[in-house]
Amino acid sequence: MQISVREIINGMEGKQALLQILLAVQDASPENYVSEDAVNDIAYMLNVSRSRVYSTASFYSVISLKPRGRHIVQVCINAPCENAGKQEILAVLEDQLGVKLGETTADRQFTLEGVSCLGACYVSPAIKIDDRLYGDLTPELVVSILREYQEEATALDCNAS
Ligand code: FES
Repeated sequence: MQISVREIINGMEGKQALLQILLAVQDASPENYVSEDAVNDIAYMLNVSRSRVYSTASFYSVISLKPRGRHIVQVCINAPCENAGKQEILAVLEDQLGVKLGETTADRQFTLEGVSCLGACYVSPAIKIDDRLYGDLTPELVVSILREYQEEATALDCNAS
């Protein structure tokens, strides 16, 4: 059962910034996003306008207002990573996942996103999957990293059925 916005806000210590609340709501969402209902609930709970919640959510790229996959795969598309072989890494990700940048896999396990810098230029080319950073990537390394996540997803599906 999914936790409600009310439970999330009531469970937070002290007064939280709107961004922290949006992040917590997004983390609790199985589809990794802040839904329209959640925006309404947050606005109601905080006694602020819906447009204030929307504008904050839209301002931060870490917040999504659209459903995403269980895992968020972020590829750095900035120059240092570009020069270090990002194009090859992106091609492998798109091939292995069967999606293009900005898309979500049909099984809703992965969303592939391009970001301007992961703060890991010293290990470019780099990607981030959820909260975990991977650097100094090669195509082979990307395949084996993705395989771990795909195997985990298969194991979870088997346990759930
Ligand atoms: S430019 Fe790629 S991590 Fe910073």
